[in-house]
Amino acid sequence: MLSTNKNEKGCLMSVPVKNNISWVGKVDWELRKFHGEEYSTHKGSTYNSYLVREEKSALIETVWAPFAKEFVRNLQKEIDLNKIDYIIANHGEVDHSGALPELMRLIPDTPIYCTANCVKSLKGQYHQDWNFKIVKNGDRLSLGAKELIFIEAPMLHWPDSMFCYLTGDNILFSTDAFGQHYATEKLFNDLVDQPELFQECIKYYANILTPFNLFVDRKIKEFVSLNLPLDMICTSHGVIWRDNPLQIVNKYLEWSADYQENQITVIYDSMWDATRKMAEAIAQGIAEEDPNVMVKVYNAARSDKNDIITEVFRSKAILVGSSTVNKGILSSIAGILEEIRGLGFKNKTAAAFGAYGWSGESVKMITERLKEGGFTIANDGLKLLWNPDEDGLSACRAFGSEFSKGTGGVKPAA
Ligand code: FEO
Repeated sequence: MLSTNKNEKGCLMSVPVKNNISWVGKVDWELRKFHGEEYSTHKGSTYNSYLVREEKSALIETVWAPFAKEFVRNLQKEIDLNKIDYIIANHGEVDHSGALPELMRLIPDTPIYCTANCVKSLKGQYHQDWNFKIVKNGDRLSLGAKELIFIEAPMLHWPDSMFCYLTGDNILFSTDAFGQHYATEKLFNDLVDQPELFQECIKYYANILTPFNLFVDRKIKEFVSLNLPLDMICTSHGVIWRDNPLQIVNKYLEWSADYQENQITVIYDSMWDATRKMAEAIAQGIAEEDPNVMVKVYNAARSDKNDIITEVFRSKAILVGSSTVNKGILSSIAGILEEIRGLGFKNKTAAAFGAYGWSGESVKMITERLKEGGFTIANDGLKLLWNPDEDGLSACRAFGSEFSKGTGGVKPAA
């Protein structure tokens, strides 16, 4: 009977998942930035690794490099490393493969099962010619009475990504898909704070998976068509979905369909408060026009950019404003517009606004960037000279109201 084990520091070392499967990953409570400085992780993360001990033993994924020694030390307390028959690398990104060099130093001949693209990624990062076994969609690996079925999942979210499914236990090991950056001692979806969990799930989807909506939709439908029973989804970050695992699959289907709620988000930055006053008056105009629409306002220079992106993801429309500086836009707005462009949102409307004192290019420039980002542009935007007076604020409210009317027809994608 497998049991939960902690190391000498009281950190989780292994947790029983089901039958002969243990979680042997790392809970990273301290993580606050991921992908360098690109992604905020307010709730930390976990790097999930799983040990399957049937007649043959398989280790699925490892952990991020800073925890490599701790991971291998803990793993040695669970199993004689020489008894690991197979290593499965579902994805080569360093947060899951980072402990491979430390592990392979001790068991250099153990075969690593992964996609051809994953071999490229692992060789490119670690410059080692390990015993790679390339697998393709539908290939199977026998562990005795049970088998692992490999399911290539390119662009969920890297070209090398792969899932694997364990027969008998009916578990999908889904690498990053269905995951979230959420440190927890509990590890199972039914044991954690539900609003926190789903906030981290939608943030993860919005910021990482949005560009791959079509791949998400196709892969889920392909998996469903296999008619495999599904008892659990073991992701590589955050919780294990054991209670109604289809709930997160259904969320992904909803999110991948160019998701939107009845929300308008106003994003701005302001040198001397004029553009801030415009943003606030525009938000008032939206709310007065449609009491049912959710209006949210963010200063891009003072708000977390990944949280803003999550709100853009939820929105049917956005307004972006900046003062004009050096014939251009403020750097926080330039930054968030680049994020927005890269994610390729669809089925959303947008417009620009901004105050200026001399040349006043910001509104035109923001409008161009929003167009490049795939937004439907509602109008030419609103620019005001100097600080808005009562008439100016009134014009902002009217602008918000008209914008809100114009987005009333935007409906969630079928
Ligand atoms: Fe969690 Fe794509 O690595």
